[in-house]
Amino acid sequence: MIIITGITGGIGNFLFNKFLQSGEEIIGTYHLNKSEGKIYENTVALDITDFSQVEKFISSIKAKEITLINCAGVSANAFAHKSSVEEWTNVIQVNLTGTFHLVRATLPFMREQNFGRIINLSSIVSQTGVMGTSAYAASKAGINGMIKSIALENAKKGITINNINLGYFKVGMINTVPKEIQEKIKSKIASNEFGDPENIFSTIQYIRNTPYLNGACLDLNGGLV
Ligand SMILES: NC(=O)c1ccc[n+]([C@@H]2O[C@H](COP(=O)([O-])OP(=O)(O)OC[C@H]3O[C@@H](n4cnc5c(N)ncnc54)[C@H](OP(=O)(O)O)[C@@H]3O)[C@@H](O)[C@H]2O)c1
Repeated sequence: MIIITGITGGIGNFLFNKFLQSGEEIIGTYHLNKSEGKIYENTVALDITDFSQVEKFISSIKAKEITLINCAGVSANAFAHKSSVEEWTNVIQVNLTGTFHLVRATLPFMREQNFGRIINLSSIVSQTGVMGTSAYAASKAGINGMIKSIALENAKKGITINNINLGYFKVGMINTVPKEIQEKIKSKIASNEFGDPENIFSTIQYIRNTPYLNGACLDLNGGLV
């Protein structure tokens, strides 16, 4: 079964529908559902910053052969010297601690079953400087570090954990970036285009089918420089 968070977001929504169409057993989570207003079957409201909610949700599913896709995330845009500590805390709580909550709650079931795939959506911003993104970059760099230890702890149990370091995609968060900045970003991408989320789907399938890939952060950015 696939468990995916953030299905009201641009990328999560695309992935959720792709997996549904391909006949996979899937359950998706959203938070406030402010993005689309559409609620699908097989979805549950969940605040990933609240561990007790996450634990209850995962225990209730009784899923087998789990692929966990951590897609929920938030961004913040402020120079560090002008940013608020509350905003910093929220970004770290959702992107880093929230991702850990899902991993923490799911691992015991994966270990019992001697199988698991954990795939987190990270970002190129964790590796490069982008002005205004200190909290977001720290949160994504955090999950890039986190998976190395978790991969070691669980490899002998048939469980892999990997991240995809996304560049810039056509859907989701990019829509909050002003048009002139979007054009500047495009000029740094070899293809001169934002990514099609189909590439994220195919990379996830590759990770699911490649058990020797573990603790890795795969760059998926169209040749961004
Ligand atoms: N789009 C890109 O180009 C890009 C690039 C690099 C990395 N990424 C990463 O890819 C992932 C998906 O991005 P996206 O563009 O699809 O983002 P998005 O459109 O902004 O969607 C974010 C999703 O996260 C959910 N969420 C926010 N706070 C939450 C919380 N406390 N608990 C549970 N869910 C919460 C939102 O739920 P509600 O709407 O229901 O509140 C929404 O479903 C993110 O982790 C992002 O950092 C995206």
